Amino acid sequence: MKVVISLGGSLISLKESDYIKEVANLIKKASKDFDLYIVVGGGKLAREYIQTARKFCSDERYLDKLGIMATRLNAMLINSFFKKEIPESIEDAAKIAPPVIMGGTTPGHSTDAVAAMLAREVNAERLIIATDVDGIYDKDPKKYEDAKKLDKISIKELRKMAGEEWKKAGESAVIDSIACRIIEEEKIETFVVNGKKLNELENAIYGKKFNGTVVEVK
Ligand code: UTP
Repeated sequence: MKVVISLGGSLISLKESDYIKEVANLIKKASKDFDLYIVVGGGKLAREYIQTARKFCSDERYLDKLGIMATRLNAMLINSFFKKEIPESIEDAAKIAPPVIMGGTTPGHSTDAVAAMLAREVNAERLIIATDVDGIYDKDPKKYEDAKKLDKISIKELRKMAGEEWKKAGESAVIDSIACRIIEEEKIETFVVNGKKLNELENAIYGKKFNGTVVEVK
């Protein structure tokens, strides 16, 4: 069974090497039962590079490329445990034997979209968006204390929240609009989970009951 995981860049901090080791161990363990495809985000590294470069450069494609480099650096960090080739396109990723670990591909979207494209390409049974909050909320939980986590949300509602367009390099939405469109069109079963909580991430990978949000696609 094929499972694609978008591992949010917010989960990867150079100061938290224990977490990186634990997540790599989970990937190793779950790889015995699943064909895993891990797409790693750029997080703080991407944001800091983009913010600084934006002071001198207004070319959004260039800024996206900086972001992509950051996602690939983070992917290489996770890949230190596996030492596999890091594909730079969806087509190449689909040709490699799992577990596959990669970052971004081309400008104009986030690694969530890469994960959705990869899920479509390899016909994955499940897409997991691993982020640093417990799921999708009715409003930004980092800004509003009374934000409520949703146990499930329809893809139509989620698309409304994500908006229709790609925003700007380094700007993030709940799940980017391109990813949402692919999830809806391909009806990909999608779970949003807090990747910091490795037991919940494991439950989501294994299709067990997990604390997070189920995106309803049917
Ligand atoms: P992320 O996927 O980490 O974006 O890529 P994000 O939305 O900020 O991340 P999370 O999900 O909230 O952690 C970082 C930046 O790299 C560029 C974009 O500018 C993105 O904002 N990028 C990434 C691309 O242009 N193409 C890709 O395939 C991946």
